[in-house]
Amino acid sequence: MGVRSWRSFFVLLWVYFFGIKLGRGDTICDLKGCNCTVKVAKWKSVNCSLSGVQELRLDLYRIPLETVDVFITGGEKIALGPKSFDQMPGLALLHIEGTRSVVMEKQSFRNVTTPSLIIQIQNCDQLSIKTGAFDGVQSSIEVEIVRCGSVNVEKTAFGKLKSALFRDVEELVLATETFEFKNQGSIGRHGPVTTIFFDHVTITTIPPRTFFSSLADVTFRNSHITEIKSEAFSANQISSITFTNSSIDYIDSNSFISRTLIYNFKLQKCTIKQIREGAVMSAITNLTVQHSNITEIQSGAINSTVAKVDISDNAIRNLQSSSVTFNNWNKISFDHNIVFNLHAHSIQAPVNPDVVEFSFSGNEIFKFSQSALSFVPDLDDHVFVFKDNFFEQTCHCTLDEWIVELINANITTKINKIANNTFCRVTDFLSQCFELKVGVINVKNFTQLVCNSNFTVVCEPYKGETKIVNTTIAIFTDQDSDSSSHWLTVIITTTSILILLVIITSTVMLIRGSRWLKRKGYFRKIQYNQNNEHSNDEENTIETVDEGDKLDISEDLTMELLQDLSKKLDDPLTHQEASEMIEQLYQKYIHNMGSENNNQQEDEAHLYEELGNLQIADANKQQSGPRSILRLMEEKFNTHFEDIDADDRPALVGEYSEPSDAAVHLYSELRQNKDESENKDSLKSRGSSNMAFRPLPDKPGSSKML
Ligand SMILES: *[C@@H]1O[C@H](CO)[C@@H](O)[C@H](O)[C@H]1NC(C)=O
Ligand SMILES: *[C@@H]1O[C@H](CO)[C@@H](O)[C@H](O)[C@H]1NC(C)=O
Ligand SMILES: *[C@@H]1O[C@H](CO)[C@@H](O)[C@H](O)[C@H]1NC(C)=O
Ligand SMILES: *[C@@H]1O[C@H](CO)[C@@H](O)[C@H](O)[C@H]1NC(C)=O
Ligand SMILES: *[C@@H]1O[C@H](CO)[C@@H](O)[C@H](O)[C@H]1NC(C)=O
Ligand SMILES: *[C@@H]1O[C@H](CO)[C@@H](O)[C@H](O)[C@H]1NC(C)=O
Ligand SMILES: *[C@@H]1O[C@H](CO)[C@@H](O)[C@H](O)[C@H]1NC(C)=O
Ligand SMILES: *[C@@H]1O[C@H](CO)[C@@H](O)[C@H](O)[C@H]1NC(C)=O
Ligand SMILES: *[C@@H]1O[C@H](CO)[C@@H](O)[C@H](O)[C@H]1NC(C)=O
Ligand SMILES: *[C@@H]1O[C@H](CO)[C@@H](O)[C@H](O)[C@H]1NC(C)=O
Ligand SMILES: *[C@@H]1O[C@H](CO)[C@@H](O)[C@H](O)[C@H]1NC(C)=O
Ligand SMILES: *[C@@H]1O[C@H](CO)[C@@H](O)[C@H](O)[C@H]1NC(C)=O
Repeated sequence: MGVRSWRSFFVLLWVYFFGIKLGRGDTICDLKGCNCTVKVAKWKSVNCSLSGVQELRLDLYRIPLETVDVFITGGEKIALGPKSFDQMPGLALLHIEGTRSVVMEKQSFRNVTTPSLIIQIQNCDQLSIKTGAFDGVQSSIEVEIVRCGSVNVEKTAFGKLKSALFRDVEELVLATETFEFKNQGSIGRHGPVTTIFFDHVTITTIPPRTFFSSLADVTFRNSHITEIKSEAFSANQISSITFTNSSIDYIDSNSFISRTLIYNFKLQKCTIKQIREGAVMSAITNLTVQHSNITEIQSGAINSTVAKVDISDNAIRNLQSSSVTFNNWNKISFDHNIVFNLHAHSIQAPVNPDVVEFSFSGNEIFKFSQSALSFVPDLDDHVFVFKDNFFEQTCHCTLDEWIVELINANITTKINKIANNTFCRVTDFLSQCFELKVGVINVKNFTQLVCNSNFTVVCEPYKGETKIVNTTIAIFTDQDSDSSSHWLTVIITTTSILILLVIITSTVMLIRGSRWLKRKGYFRKIQYNQNNEHSNDEENTIETVDEGDKLDISEDLTMELLQDLSKKLDDPLTHQEASEMIEQLYQKYIHNMGSENNNQQEDEAHLYEELGNLQIADANKQQSGPRSILRLMEEKFNTHFEDIDADDRPALVGEYSEPSDAAVHLYSELRQNKDESENKDSLKSRGSSNMAFRPLPDKPGSSKML
């Protein structure tokens, strides 16, 4: 092998490993793996397949001037140097695919003069578009970047742009003034034409003035943006901005500046952590926020002139005070949202002559401040639509006052409209009384049923309006943990939780264990039996009871059984047996009641506590424990047990004319303890006659039962 052959061998090797330098005067057509074919007349097509490690650098006059399409596949790196496509009159398509790294340098598309040029970059690891890459371009440029690992677009990269598509980009880095078009020229005559579309793209930050020139459309779909910086959207006009199925962590103050005019601004199916103070200041024709989860909208977050607002089907955790202000609005719909925290003056909508409608319907509000709906008083009745809203609020008879606080005004028509169309939550006790599954009823209906002039409640199946409220969605539990938080905190928290769990478990086991013992009859409670032969020494001692000694209590608590027990109690011979039976029955009864309501409310627990203490309070009276418990059970039986027609129900309450303390207590809570000093009114069970007034029992000092 001669020296010449050796030399060419090494040159080949060099080229193979370290890239291709086209020699002086060589064109791309001279390159191994490239084919330049004639398409029509003089117009050519370039088709190159580079090997995996080849690097190619293009510059002036490397591509034949008559080229229409350039296809390059493969290769390690392609650099488009300055003037790579200079003075090419027919260039229509540049397609680069499967190349690891692509760089478009400054002025790489200088003096491209064709009417339109499509640039497609696909399947790359890295793409970098440098400042001024499209300087001096006359064509309308369409860029499509698809399936790339990391894409870096520098400031003023596109001098002129018709459309840009970024799809499946793992990391897109944008710069200040990335979308500034210095050479947009005549194509903006009928408003901006440029559209920019991001699909399945991850962007860490959208820096200030990224969207600097006017745009027809900016869409983000299936994308993640960590932070939109202040003044990120600062063009004079962006006809349409859409975020859909995307997540945005933070939208900074003044991200959408007041100078910008936006015709359609849509957020759909998005997850947003925080919209910061003054984030959206632009004038907007249509603002739409739908099916989105938003953790926080800070005070003054949206403060703009918006003609038409549609905020619906969202879950919003914190809507801070004065968080959204709409000026010069025509129509506002705030419908079907779930708001966890609705703060004072949350929505501000100063009325103006062009107001058409303000709708607030189907919302579920869980916590709210006074004046949360302070927009209501200013609205004319005919423009104010209010329907079907739920407020997490226990129903009571002074809800009118609550509505006055909510809207911060005392206007009868508004109060009526709100009461007619608002739902509140009834206590478990009333829920059972009305046989309500969901426990949520219309305020007006509640008022009609409970707050009538006689102050009586008739327990019968409720047929009015109810509403199903969903409290299981993530917004209620999702307090995002900051990943940057210290390990120490994590460890301490975990340890505390573990310790807490151990404590809870032991407590639960203790309680359960003693309950089990009680249920099985091993645990005797005799404190109310002071009149008979048991001595106080035996109190709270555990003793086993023979299986045969146990009383046989039939599964169903019936009125007959209670009446029978009542008779036995009167007979000295059977008195003791009846007392024990009543005691067990009562324990079982209370136990069952407890397990039916797994969502026991505080006030009901309180109620049971008082019931449990009845026997202590009454211990010294003529009527001893078993008697009062029996009467209590009869009354509870009357109130709770399933639907027996009024006629069928035995008139037991007539025999024991005193009302139960339970009912009085409950009713007093309904009235919000308003007239604490006055005599309390009675709650009437269905089918019973009117009951005498009776004072609320004193709260017992201690509770040994349960
Ligand atoms: C170039 O084109 C010719 C004819 O169209 C074809 O035979 C040849 O395989 C091509 N070469 C390459 C590297 O594509
Ligand atoms: C480029 O050439 C390869 C074969 O060398 C061929 O498979 C491919 O279809 C060509 N591409 C175009 C767009 O003509
Ligand atoms: C190429 O661009 C330069 C400046 O960008 C300009 O002076 C020159 O006239 C252009 N040439 C053609 C043929 O467009
Ligand atoms: C929404 O975006 C996620 C993540 O980008 C994607 O997995 C999902 O398919 C998208 N959903 C729809 C309906 O496009
Ligand atoms: C605003 O939305 C309505 C439909 O809700 C549409 O008819 C109207 O054209 C939109 N306005 C603009 C400026 O796009
Ligand atoms: C809304 O912006 C105006 C000025 O544009 C300011 O005076 C007002 O205080 C802002 N309102 C809120 C609630 O931030
Ligand atoms: C509302 O006004 C009426 C009379 O106009 C008054 O009776 C009522 O007490 C007021 N309610 C509140 C909560 O101020
Ligand atoms: C509320 O409903 C009652 C009927 O239940 C009706 O008479 C009244 O007009 C309604 N008020 C409003 C403001 O809708
Ligand atoms: C008041 O009580 C009487 C009898 O007790 C009953 O007929 C009447 O319907 C009750 N009124 C209301 C508003 O419930
Ligand atoms: C209350 O319930 C009745 C049926 O019991 C129903 O007709 C009515 O529309 C409900 N609403 C109001 C506000 O009364
Ligand atoms: C409540 O919302 C969760 C999550 O959105 C859903 O899975 C569940 O079916 C809903 N429950 C009801 C009763 O609508
Ligand atoms: C919002 O949260 C709910 C419940 O957690 C979930 O079902 C829904 O998909 C979320 N929506 C978005 C846009 O992430």
